[in-house]
Amino acid sequence: MKIIGGPASQLLASRTARALGKEPVLCEFNRFPDGELYLRIADETENEKVTLIQSTPTDSDLVALLQLIDACEGAAEINVVVPYMGYARQDKKFKSGEPISARAVARCINADRVFTVNIHEESVLEYFPCPAEDLDAAKLLGKYIAGLGLEEPLLVAPDAGAGNLVNNVAGDLGFACDFLQKTRLSGDTVEIKTKNVEVAGRHIVLVDDMIATGGTMAESIRMLRGQGAADVYLACVHPVLARNAAVRLFNAGVKDIIASDTLEKAESRVSVAPLIAEALQKL
Ligand code: R5P
Repeated sequence: MKIIGGPASQLLASRTARALGKEPVLCEFNRFPDGELYLRIADETENEKVTLIQSTPTDSDLVALLQLIDACEGAAEINVVVPYMGYARQDKKFKSGEPISARAVARCINADRVFTVNIHEESVLEYFPCPAEDLDAAKLLGKYIAGLGLEEPLLVAPDAGAGNLVNNVAGDLGFACDFLQKTRLSGDTVEIKTKNVEVAGRHIVLVDDMIATGGTMAESIRMLRGQGAADVYLACVHPVLARNAAVRLFNAGVKDIIASDTLEKAESRVSVAPLIAEALQKL
């Protein structure tokens, strides 16, 4: 099987290839003078099994993925790994007249098989025109957090929706888990607190699937620190970190941001390559 990384996932593709004992295929990425994308796979794919690894945080990254799939015409089998899938959050029509953008994107990805990593909503998998499976990076994040050697850390989800992810990150590592709950005290006052465990003096790791603008996490950090928490770390699978998110989080007092390499950022300390390699080995 040949491993081919798109422009957004060059490191992750290289790490996955290495985990499989292979060399990743080289590609040429360029732009035409009018801004359109050009790419070329510098190897034969005819009658070969190929795996394309490309996150799609931007529209250009999605186009590059479509170009890669097209360039592999004639391959014996095309597996596509979309570690971070852009538009996955628009998984339904919130107002009439809106598209289901996740469906629009998924429908274009025509391959033999698709893998995603902690996709925002698993229901999106049904929109792909081929079998699709979501891989869970929770255990890898948990292992990294355990390596920090924090004294009795408390893993906290910023809302009940991220509760499952937090439990999976904790796995069987013995970490305590909780989630933040908003209680309306009056017409204009809300209290945000951990549901079950007191945070005073505790080292906290806030866990979510993604950090986008950082708004959710910045508010949570301020609130936890206001309630006497010791250091507050953030852990997420997808470090979207749009615009000034990192600065907002540091201004709010975060100790450190831990993320995976589904998006290749300075915060991407945990590689999901073993997860992808394991899934590919099972094929
Ligand atoms: C929402 O459902 C997600 O799990 C994240 O909580 C959200 O996308 C984070 O967004 P932001 O960083 O912009 O607050």
